[in-house]
Amino acid sequence: MIDTVYNDICITTINPEIVEIRLNRPTAHNALRTDLLAEIADVLTQVAADETIRCVVITGGDKVFAAGADIKEMAALDAIGVLNDKRPQYWHCLRTFPKPLIAAVNGYALGGGCELAMHADIIIAGDSALFGQPEINLGIIPGAGGTQRLIYAVGKARAMKMVLSGEMIKAQEALNAGLVAEVTPPELTIERAHKLAQTIAKKSPLAVRLAKEAMLNAFEMSLTTGLQQERKAFALLAASDDRQEGISAFIEKRRPTFTGR
Ligand code: CAA
Repeated sequence: MIDTVYNDICITTINPEIVEIRLNRPTAHNALRTDLLAEIADVLTQVAADETIRCVVITGGDKVFAAGADIKEMAALDAIGVLNDKRPQYWHCLRTFPKPLIAAVNGYALGGGCELAMHADIIIAGDSALFGQPEINLGIIPGAGGTQRLIYAVGKARAMKMVLSGEMIKAQEALNAGLVAEVTPPELTIERAHKLAQTIAKKSPLAVRLAKEAMLNAFEMSLTTGLQQERKAFALLAASDDRQEGISAFIEKRRPTFTGR
């Protein structure tokens, strides 16, 4: 249960297992000022330590998910200011968050907003969503992983087009490219994200955690090393009560009850 009150985000406990973070700076199109990122990092730290909470859904507004870094805040930073910036530590918190994070994106996801969505494990997009890295229009480049993650997410050619031209892609193109997992009518995006979170919340917490870890490691490791760590995680789960319960439930034709042990 998160009961901290924040300024730039709203926290809703959808049920004991699912927490929703909604970006809430409508007057600045949810621009990701440092305080907002610090608040997200604080929530994720609390969620990571709370065994009851299984999944987080992050969302923005109807017209704008997030318009990127706060350009006005960024304007005040010189090179040393950028070097000493705390923002990378908050992004690191997103990057290492051990539980499933689902982004429900409607409207613009630009710059840091697109990068925020890409920190999620799964993106559900409304069919009016637009993804882009327009930093080039400001004479800068993406600064929260966009040049790296976009290559994996949409392939080199599309990533180059987006980062070098600043052009956006629509939800359907993002779906075709593999950036998003599903496209829904805009009014159903959040509902679908909650439903998916609920489906995942019913699985074994251990298996979900190790599956997420193994898949994210694919970005960092050779295939051989990745397969070895998958095998070790697979073996580790063989010692869990949840594996016993999952297999018994299948054989006994009943629903499993997982305990995370
Ligand atoms: N930072 C700060 N303020 C922003 C902002 C941002 N990223 N995006 C929008 N705003 C503010 C505007 O300044 C404006 O404020 P005022 O009312 O005080 O003038 C308000 O939000 C509404 O914006 P617009 O009038 O521009 O709204 P629009 O509906 O006409 O356009 C938009 C919407 C296409 C999202 C447009 O606002 C836009 O292009 N925003 C900037 C997008 C961008 O360049 N993002 C990259 C930022 S750099 C980055 O993210 C670096 C990184 O990798 C971490």
